[in-house]
Amino acid sequence: MTHATTRIAPSLLSADFSRLGEEIRNVVDAGADWIHFDVMDNHYVPNLSVGPMVCEALRPHTTVPIDVHLMVEPVDAIIPQFARAGANIISFHPEATRHPDRTLAHIKDNGCRAGLVFNPATSLDWMDYVMDKLDVVLLMSVNPGFGGQRFIPATLGKLAQARRKIDAWVREGGQPIALEVDGGVKVDNIADIRAAGADTFVAGSAIFGHPDYRTIIAELRAEITRGETLSV
Ligand code: DX5
Ligand code: ZN
Repeated sequence: MTHATTRIAPSLLSADFSRLGEEIRNVVDAGADWIHFDVMDNHYVPNLSVGPMVCEALRPHTTVPIDVHLMVEPVDAIIPQFARAGANIISFHPEATRHPDRTLAHIKDNGCRAGLVFNPATSLDWMDYVMDKLDVVLLMSVNPGFGGQRFIPATLGKLAQARRKIDAWVREGGQPIALEVDGGVKVDNIADIRAAGADTFVAGSAIFGHPDYRTIIAELRAEITRGETLSV
């Protein structure tokens, strides 16, 4: 496996909500590459989190990309609000919108990078006819809605399948597409997840549940590097 760019994206869902600005600054100082921002509406998923106003309030606290993961239905109307709030990447679940191709174009028209999110039971076929509009493919390795769940092992085979699709696309001259994984990512499984083909790793409870963000991010990174030497 090549040593391509890899990224760690701490999920704010497990941060201390009473001091989110400080949490972002600390985790970025500790080496985070992106900030993963989980948006839940108590409709598409059975939980309620934060919206564009909180994104806007946090934007001045960092220059790293804010990676918005929309778990909302419908999707389109909230996209310009997140774009105005300073989001860099906006990803959504294709089942949550009537017209995924149009929603991807809508994200791009609003000046953001666009991503599709695949639930554990969602087929990767949703990628096939929109490859040219994708900047990110995000595979859920838990069912969306809560932090602190256990990684679903079948995600490893699915990551390898997504990796093959993306590599074939890039070989044919397509734009690069990040392959992100979200849910239950820990020090003890991130090497296998890297070996399966992920390059971008969301981690919520693993990072914010650790007393020292620099130590845990360094441990995750060392395991990512080890994963590049493993065969699948
Ligand atoms: C779940 C969210 C995840 C979650 C990950 O619906 O999309 O981003 O915060 O948390 P951990 O890393 O604790 O599984
Ligand atoms: Zn997420």
